[in-house]
Amino acid sequence: MSSYKIGIIVSSSRPTRIGPNVAQWVSELAPYGCEVEIIDLAAVNLPFLAEPEQPATGNYTLPSTVAWSEQIRAYDALIIAVPEYNAGYPAVLKNAIDSLHAEWADLPIGVVGYGWGAAAGAARQLGEVLDRVKAVRLDGPGLSFGQDLTPEGEILDAAPVDGVRGLYDQIVAAVREKAAA
Ligand SMILES: Cc1cc2nc3c(=O)[nH]c(=O)nc-3n(C[C@H](O)[C@H](O)[C@H](O)COP(=O)(O)O)c2cc1C
Repeated sequence: MSSYKIGIIVSSSRPTRIGPNVAQWVSELAPYGCEVEIIDLAAVNLPFLAEPEQPATGNYTLPSTVAWSEQIRAYDALIIAVPEYNAGYPAVLKNAIDSLHAEWADLPIGVVGYGWGAAAGAARQLGEVLDRVKAVRLDGPGLSFGQDLTPEGEILDAAPVDGVRGLYDQIVAAVREKAAA
C-alpha cells in the first residue's frame, strides 16, 4: 500500500492557543497508510510578505520563503486546523498562504474548524481563499465549543471523529486521483 504524507497545520500563534490540541487530535485519527506531521505556523514564523517580488513569480529570495516552499512541496496533502477569529481565520494563516503561490495549486487541502458555531465563518472564508489559489479544497467537520471541545482545548466525546475519518478518505482519494492524472 502507498504511504501518503499529510501535513497538519496549526494555524494559530497565540501564546495560549489550543490549536496544537486540535491538530494533535486530528493527527491521531490518521488511517493506516497516512504519515502525518504537525506544521506549526508559530514555529514557521514567516515575516509578513517581505519578498521584493510577488509570490506568483516564484522568485523567492528569503531563506524563510524558500524553506516554507520546500516544506509545503514535501506533502501530498494538508489538513488545516483553523480557529475562528472575528468571523474569519487567523492573519498568520493568510500570510502563510499568500507567501507562496504555485505550491498550492492542485494540492488537496482539508479544513477542520474550531470555535463557537463550529467555526463556520472561518471555514467559509478559508474555503474561498483555497479555491482562489486552486487548491483541491476538501471540507472537513467543525468542532464547537461546549459540544466537541472545551475553550481550554480539551477534546470531548462528541467530537466528530467520523467526520475527520471521512476527510482522510477524501484526501486519500484526491491524492490517488492526482497521481493517476
Ligand atoms: C481575536 C479573536 C477573535 C475571536 N473571534 C471569534 C469568533 O468570531 N467566533 C468564534 O467562534 N470564536 C472566536 N474567538 C474564540 C476562538 O475561536 C478561540 O479563542 C479559539 O481557542 C482560538 O484558537 P487558538 O486558541 O488556537 O488561538 C476569537 C478569539 C480571538 C483570540
